[in-house]
Amino acid sequence: MTILPLLLFLLPFHVISQPTTSQNEQNTLLNIKQFWSNPPALNHWNHSSNPCTWPEITCTATTVTGITISNQEITGLVPPFICYLRNLTHLDLNNNYITGSFPTDLYNCTNLRYLDLSQNYFVGRIPDDISRLSQEIRYLSLSSNNFTGDIPVNISRLLKLSSLKLHANLFNGSFPEKIGDLKDLEELLLGFNPFTPSRLPQSFFQLEKLRKFIMTEANLIGDIPGIVSYRIYSLQKIK
Ligand SMILES: *[C@@H]1O[C@H](CO)[C@@H](O)[C@H](O)[C@H]1NC(C)=O
Ligand SMILES: *[C@@H]1O[C@H](CO)[C@@H](O)[C@H](O)[C@H]1NC(C)=O
Ligand SMILES: *[C@@H]1O[C@H](CO)[C@@H](O)[C@H](O)[C@H]1NC(C)=O
Ligand SMILES: *[C@@H]1O[C@H](CO)[C@@H](O)[C@H](O)[C@H]1NC(C)=O
Ligand SMILES: *[C@@H]1O[C@H](CO)[C@@H](O)[C@H](O)[C@H]1NC(C)=O
Ligand SMILES: *[C@@H]1O[C@H](CO)[C@@H](O)[C@H](O)[C@H]1NC(C)=O
Repeated sequence: MTILPLLLFLLPFHVISQPTTSQNEQNTLLNIKQFWSNPPALNHWNHSSNPCTWPEITCTATTVTGITISNQEITGLVPPFICYLRNLTHLDLNNNYITGSFPTDLYNCTNLRYLDLSQNYFVGRIPDDISRLSQEIRYLSLSSNNFTGDIPVNISRLLKLSSLKLHANLFNGSFPEKIGDLKDLEELLLGFNPFTPSRLPQSFFQLEKLRKFIMTEANLIGDIPGIVSYRIYSLQKIK
């Protein structure tokens, strides 16, 4: 007898507490699902449910701000219209079978802070105009793909980067000394790439916040300057 009024009291609150996205954002997400040929992992994405309740989606207030679809055997390209989700800040597509060249359509995601495309099948060069990516970007991982060529100097214009992970690709050109301009870098992973032989740039050791630095199997040559080996020693002690 006393339970029923209580339920009636709670129910509206439960409904209200779930933010609902706009119809446009829901449509964009359903178009993404369709663009990827309706992968089984996204079966629960449908018109009659609220995207903010889908485990892959994060909402802030009533807008989609995060997509995390990791280890789901997604095949195909990054949907060129993904940045219709204007407020997207977090995109994690780690460990799928996504192909194509670097998706420059992501330049339109002007609020992007976190981008993880690691462990996929991307090929080709990182574009020279990579600095057109969101100036808000903090985390960029392209590791474990088949990217080739140089790491473009303009990557050093993404000044808020704290993690830059480019390891385990097929980069067979150079990496820019200018990475040393990225003062907020805490993680810099460039190892396991067939770079053209080069010296360790002194500029990397101006990176005061660096706590994880991997250049294993990156074709480094030459001496390791005394100051640098001291700094590496300090880094190792921190780890
Ligand atoms: C839509 O998906 C939800 C889960 O997100 C599920 O509970 C519901 O049955 C689905 N509805 C239809 C019509 O498929
Ligand atoms: C990217 O943004 C520009 C300008 O806002 C717009 O004209 C264009 O249609 C957008 N493209 C995509 C793929 O979102
Ligand atoms: C982005 O968020 C703002 C503020 O919450 C909202 O007004 C706007 O409609 C959102 N954009 C989209 C494309 O949903
Ligand atoms: C990526 O490179 C590996 C090793 O060189 C190769 O076996 C594989 O076929 C390449 N994959 C793609 C999608 O290019
Ligand atoms: C590199 O960045 C500078 C400054 O933003 C810009 O003028 C230049 O066009 C960029 N290079 C490329 C290839 O986009
Ligand atoms: C790097 O690899 C690409 C793709 O395999 C190739 O076309 C290019 O010639 C290579 N560049 C160098 C400097 O070896």
